[in-house]
Amino acid sequence: MEVIVKPTYDEVSKLAAGMIAEFLRCKPRAVLGFATGSTPLGTYKELIRLHREEGLDFSQAVTFNLDEYIGLPKDNDQSYHYFMWENLFKHINVLEANVHIPDGMSEDLHRHCLEYEEEIFDHGGLDVQLLGIGSNGHIAFNEPGSSLGSRTRIKTLDEKTRQDNARFFKSIDEVPRYCLTMGIGTILEAEKLILLANGANKAEAVQKTVEGPITASVPASAIQLHPNATVIVDKAASGKLTRKYPGAPAMLDL
Ligand code: PGA
Repeated sequence: MEVIVKPTYDEVSKLAAGMIAEFLRCKPRAVLGFATGSTPLGTYKELIRLHREEGLDFSQAVTFNLDEYIGLPKDNDQSYHYFMWENLFKHINVLEANVHIPDGMSEDLHRHCLEYEEEIFDHGGLDVQLLGIGSNGHIAFNEPGSSLGSRTRIKTLDEKTRQDNARFFKSIDEVPRYCLTMGIGTILEAEKLILLANGANKAEAVQKTVEGPITASVPASAIQLHPNATVIVDKAASGKLTRKYPGAPAMLDL
């Protein structure tokens, strides 16, 4: 696993966006896995800038998102559909037909999860998957205790996750209790993983992910099994790491 510590969130975001952009330039039909939450917002801002100012072309790209709440319509401003269109998709030239986000309003959620997996497979698998990390160590909505081999499915949100995400809702009672999420097994099949974290509240989860044992109690630790995973953190999120990690190698220092 490659661990890169950057001084600021801005630099974390620029490096992550630069890596995704590089991927897309090499493979215009890339299958890109995106994430929601506060963490990737800077990366999306930079991807939008690269599109506008440097012509980064998403017209052939295919996207898959990690997760979605169950029971929120696509136009609800807390749905991950809404988030992705507001914060990235409407600002770039990705085709709507090439965007995939789990549908938390599907009438047959189990079937929808199977079909989501099939769609990823039919597109040749994920080339690169961007990940945030929960303060409880989750990736996507794979909460502590999730099977390390899990696939896209219905999950119950951890109470810690509901508390963390309550800041986006009027009250914690409005935070959904259930979600659809790609599984850890699904995520591990991506060609490349890029996990981002910023802020001191992520420091413990980052330390356990990078230096702790692989355990379902810290779902993100499963990325230790991945042959091509890069963890990019800012200084605050690196605060509990006990080994020394380099900054980005010069060739990646975007
Ligand atoms: P955050 O969430 O980026 O809003 O901190 C990350 C996550 O829960 O995966």
